[in-house]
Amino acid sequence: MGKKIKSGFIVAIDGPAGAGKSTVSRLLALELNGRLLDTGAMYRSVAYFAVKENVSTAKGFSKIARQLNFDYDSKNQSILVNGQEMGNRLRTQQVSALASKVSAFKGVRQTLTLCQRKLGKTWAKTAPVVVEGRDIGTVVFPRVDYKFFVTADPKVRAERRYQQLKKQGTKGVSLQAILRSNMERDKQDSSRKHAPLKCAEDAIVVDTSKMSINQVVQFMSEHIRGRMSLVGD
Ligand code: DC
Repeated sequence: MGKKIKSGFIVAIDGPAGAGKSTVSRLLALELNGRLLDTGAMYRSVAYFAVKENVSTAKGFSKIARQLNFDYDSKNQSILVNGQEMGNRLRTQQVSALASKVSAFKGVRQTLTLCQRKLGKTWAKTAPVVVEGRDIGTVVFPRVDYKFFVTADPKVRAERRYQQLKKQGTKGVSLQAILRSNMERDKQDSSRKHAPLKCAEDAIVVDTSKMSINQVVQFMSEHIRGRMSLVGD
């Protein structure tokens, strides 16, 4: 550590569901004294309001995306949606499944991509910003200096999620069902026409199958600080 981190840079973190991306991004943002932009939460918000307002068309999803206003809640390192803390409302199975579907629509992606660029650039004026998603290094911020693609063996990803649910006391979910649902989401996210989940050519691939969360965060932080000293910051 030691080296002082300057503001004004963006770290893009992409990868499939359950690879440890969210936890790693959160901790890295803390480590860098920066902000976290959780773009998945933005797609989840569109899905949440679509369920709430009984919307099921592409036009309707795009309209919801245009009506949402996002802000940062530094206390929880999370995003405020129309001034509201969303918490676990964005994490239900129903919202997760619909988020993957709404994120395939061009209108929704265009609106949220513009929004993400604006937020990321504005926040980066005062602090480092860790942007987490599926298309950050390829589409949203293709020219940033720091790009990571966080992945893990599908079985390891399912096992981690299973343990997490067990710890939370969730009953009736099997490891097999999680594995199937992850594979379904991965397939949907990677095969969609607009901005599919893809590793950017210049991203560093971090396979977390055999690494602890702390090891991953340390690796990323050292990489960033090392690169900064190379350019003489
Ligand atoms: O990261 P997450 O599980 O919270 O993301 C929710 C959904 O949104 C997921 O199915 C993929 C999609 N998503 C996306 O298409 N592009 C992003 N930049 C972030 C998430």
